[in-house]
Amino acid sequence: MNPALLSVANISKGFLSSGRRVAALDNVSLTIAAGETLGLVGASGSGKSTLSRILLRLLSADAGAIRFEGEDWLALNGAPLRRKRARMQMVFQDPLAAFNPLASVSVALDDPLRIHGIVPRERRAGEIAMLLERVGLPADYASRPIRALSGGQRQRVAIARAIATRPSLLVLDEAVSALDVTVRGRILELLVSLQKEQGIACLFISHDLAVVRAVSHRIAVMDGGRIVETGPAAAVVANPKSDAGSALVAAVPRLVTDPS
Ligand SMILES: Nc1ncnc2c1ncn2[C@@H]1O[C@H](COP(=O)(O)OP(=O)(O)O)[C@@H](O)[C@H]1O
Ligand SMILES: [Mg+2]
Repeated sequence: MNPALLSVANISKGFLSSGRRVAALDNVSLTIAAGETLGLVGASGSGKSTLSRILLRLLSADAGAIRFEGEDWLALNGAPLRRKRARMQMVFQDPLAAFNPLASVSVALDDPLRIHGIVPRERRAGEIAMLLERVGLPADYASRPIRALSGGQRQRVAIARAIATRPSLLVLDEAVSALDVTVRGRILELLVSLQKEQGIACLFISHDLAVVRAVSHRIAVMDGGRIVETGPAAAVVANPKSDAGSALVAAVPRLVTDPS
């Protein structure tokens, strides 16, 4: 048997809102195989970011279990958790919020290499140059301040930082949603090529089915805190089984009208 890289079982999470408990996640289960990209799509408020924050151990779950690389992920704490975080990295919507904008690109990339002891000090400059090349940025960008970069360039640096610790899983929450269409397309191409070359698994989260379709092997549809449908990406887009899936397909007319 080849166990899943990630398996999420029956995760629930509620928030208190004006004295009432609102269920943000209701019994959510999913698996991701090594090297697989699972797209998680759903309308705003369906619970996608709550799930990503629980996965990344930024928020605790009320119930349920998560296994990651064969370990009880929610039971890890302290130093073992900090070590293991290298294996699951994140890319969020707003790269500027994720960085000290005054820092240079090389400092932003040196941090994870140093903190997680990925390469010895004397090899870090070479590693940073290789990471920049891998995300399609010239090596001399290392000396530039983050705030001097465009949105797309910042997101490339965010991806370089995420892969710096050699993770087996990337969690990308609305990672291209703030980018204009042309830049978004290039970042999606970069993600697909990284995924193919390095076999990194991805949980790719977006409210936009067209974007999810472009990168995912399988797609899970969320609605009201539940996963209402999961299947191969092409099948979910061509023949959605859930109301939420149908609504998302209908919101992207070219997905149904363009046969290419
Ligand atoms: N910190 C919080 N406090 C109270 N309610 C929250 C909090 N975070 C999320 N929610 C609620 O949980 C639900 C799911 O939110 P979220 O996970 O952000 O959805 P999505 O990312 O799909 O837009 C929403 O109803 C949202 O208002
Ligand atoms: Mg969200």
